[in-house]
Amino acid sequence: MFNLIVLLSGRGSNFAAILRAIQEGSLDARIQAVFSDKRDAPGIAIAEQAGIPVEIIDSFVHPNKSAFDQELLLRLGHYSFDLIVLAGYMRVLTADVIKAYPNKIINIHPSLLPKYPGLYTHARVIENGDKEHGATVHYVTEALDMGPIIAQSALEVLPGDTPDSLAERVLALEHVLYTEVIQRLINRRVD
Ligand code: GRF
Repeated sequence: MFNLIVLLSGRGSNFAAILRAIQEGSLDARIQAVFSDKRDAPGIAIAEQAGIPVEIIDSFVHPNKSAFDQELLLRLGHYSFDLIVLAGYMRVLTADVIKAYPNKIINIHPSLLPKYPGLYTHARVIENGDKEHGATVHYVTEALDMGPIIAQSALEVLPGDTPDSLAERVLALEHVLYTEVIQRLINRRVD
């Protein structure tokens, strides 16, 4: 079995899409645990409802970045897993975590990287009059949103699109892309 750890900070719709794909049998994996740095992240309730262990590392309790990630490493060490999936995890991982799990951490980002790393991607696409937008899954390295790209999914920016309308359409792409990429990584390991 291919075991996943999910890290999130908020809504958790990508996590929910991955969970749904597992439950429907289209993704051959198991989620070992969901980690959140926010006590009130809505994604936590989704995990609890599905009986998935939840690990909360509260950023208020561990305000120091490196102490936070030492706690993260300690708790990750309690699980055995193949891949860490960042799903709306709003912290930048320190080098210690990245070095501990080389090529084992992936992220999804709402832009066609290398365009628009960071926040407010949809607004920046509109501001620049781009014709195309989308989502990227990439390996996580120390440079924010800059690790090797695994796959992308694109859509056309329509006249009248707003940051909100783009966000909604890109999110729908993300849900499909993320589960497909994870399944591809699983197949690669099995092949
Ligand atoms: C997504 O847009 C993802 O690309 C970005 O953060 C957002 C998380 O959304 N990294 P959700 O929590 O998965 O709904």
